[in-house]
Amino acid sequence: MDVSLEGKVALVTGCGPNIGSGIALALARYGAKVAVNDVSKESVDACIARIERNGGTAMAAPGDVTDEETVKGYIGDVLAAWGKIDILVNNAALLGGRGVLDETAEAFHRAVTVSSMGTFLNTKHVGRSMAERGVKGSIVCVSSSNGWNGSAGVCAYAFHKGGVNNFVRAAAMDLAPYGIRVNSFTPTAPNPDNPELLAQWKREGRTPFGLRPGAAGGLGAPEGSDEWRRPARFDGPRNPMVPMGTTGTPTDIGHAVAWLCSDYARLITGIDLVVDGGARAKNFAYVPAAPADLAGPLPLITLDSTLLPGD
Ligand SMILES: NC(=O)c1ccc[n+]([C@@H]2O[C@H](COP(=O)([O-])OP(=O)(O)OC[C@H]3O[C@@H](n4cnc5c(N)ncnc54)[C@H](O)[C@@H]3O)[C@@H](O)[C@H]2O)c1
Repeated sequence: MDVSLEGKVALVTGCGPNIGSGIALALARYGAKVAVNDVSKESVDACIARIERNGGTAMAAPGDVTDEETVKGYIGDVLAAWGKIDILVNNAALLGGRGVLDETAEAFHRAVTVSSMGTFLNTKHVGRSMAERGVKGSIVCVSSSNGWNGSAGVCAYAFHKGGVNNFVRAAAMDLAPYGIRVNSFTPTAPNPDNPELLAQWKREGRTPFGLRPGAAGGLGAPEGSDEWRRPARFDGPRNPMVPMGTTGTPTDIGHAVAWLCSDYARLITGIDLVVDGGARAKNFAYVPAAPADLAGPLPLITLDSTLLPGD
């Protein structure tokens, strides 16, 4: 009983080198042909190359997810090339942002537009292609832990990810009569594991992000010198906050999304799937043990056979 997406066609939006590329690679490794979207040509090319060097099949579906003609255009290209779309992953988004006292109207508007219009337009036009062809497909919208609870410094992001969560439930109802499923997947600060991205960061002397106990500043850090400002986040040393010691990697996300898009999940619709080592389930007052004191999870089943330069 192996999970297989053999014979299926997928479209993944926002295939930057972190989570989008990880999900696209996973769908390809599980057997789907994958169309790769992004506004960045570099990201599209890199994601296709990553899929192909790992033995998969990919095509470009470039363009801005907020523009309806563009969305219809690249969906039409995928349908012309491969005849159908069984899987859509709405992953494109603008991360980061500022707190409510400092966010600009322009940045708020653009972040909400990319998430809302991108998710809506791709769901609408891929959903129509599925309904017209009798494809009992799977649509996954990528949420965030910020869609479920609050962090300082990300008010636009929190607004649109919260919107994604309830869009999923509404779209699940709209598409259930066609046998089409709509779910969300919530990443929680995964540790990037794309070998190319890690190599690039190493060259640039950048520390991989993810959860950094004790990191100073960060989300909601005070900015400006106004006397009335108060810090919105404790920036001293922190104990680890994740019960299993890690929130995982884009590869963990890829395995879970691939399964959610497989025929085994045929009756799963309108839910949120989260892979986070227990982070969201944790009671606010419970502080887990230090990672060194934990047994740790099972070893990761890797999906990218690419070796880092020098390996
Ligand atoms: N990285 C995290 O810690 C984290 C945590 C929770 C949720 N997420 C979610 O996971 C998803 C991917 O995150 P990531 O870390 O890989 O981010 P990322 O910024 O590396 O990737 C997002 C991609 O979306 C693309 N994009 C932006 N606007 C677009 C548009 N208008 N049309 C097409 N593409 C567009 C960007 O070019 C980029 O490649 C996002 O939905 C994000 O909100 C990330």
